[in-house]
Amino acid sequence: MIITLDGPAGAGKSSAARALAARLGWCYMDTGAMYRAVALTALERGILLDDSAGIAALAEQIRIEFRDGRVNVDGRDVSADIRTERITAATRPVADAPPVRDAMKRIQRQMAEGLDVVTEGRDQGSVVFPQADLKVFLTATPEERARRRHQEEVSRGQSSTLAAVLESQSRRDDGDCSRPVGALKQADDAVLLETDGLSADEVVQRLVEMVEVCRRLRGLA
Ligand code: DC
Repeated sequence: MIITLDGPAGAGKSSAARALAARLGWCYMDTGAMYRAVALTALERGILLDDSAGIAALAEQIRIEFRDGRVNVDGRDVSADIRTERITAATRPVADAPPVRDAMKRIQRQMAEGLDVVTEGRDQGSVVFPQADLKVFLTATPEERARRRHQEEVSRGQSSTLAAVLESQSRRDDGDCSRPVGALKQADDAVLLETDGLSADEVVQRLVEMVEVCRRLRGLA
């Protein structure tokens, strides 16, 4: 089975998707981390960020794996390296390039083949897995999302202010929604889950209930 969780930055997708996958005993795919890993490796190898063909080829060459909550590229743990401001900025043009998105779509489908997967990103339900068993679009107000992201950054030891997080989030939202390929868009058949006022546990509980309904409807439980 495939469950897709899409939505804007800071909607709580990553923690919800990770926790849901753990509860179900399924694989977890963080496609934002995959774009970040490709951008990091491109910078390390001196590939220009506007060389979309070169970056698409790189994406096909490297092996990205999620293991024990960590992200590995060719066996090297890059979990911390992909979360810096520099890599967040470098990921933008990488994720905007149609050839890279095309390569990532193929890679993501390959990674999920034959597995039970919870996958999160921007285009998982709308583009990569249009036949997913359950599609959820997770969102929250911009203020709530910025507050959560700010807390996350502080807990990682990064110096950050709420105002700066809100500003960079609004730039990312604009970019995510307006790019010609892979724009953030709720799939027509996705369930909308607004998470303002819900704790992380409550979000996961709602998702688990949706999965149960979905499995019952499909005669799997
Ligand atoms: O969710 P995140 O911040 O880790 O995502 C990193 C970048 O990748 C961000 O610019 C959005 C982009 N992205 C994308 O274009 N498509 C996805 N499926 C996931 C992330």
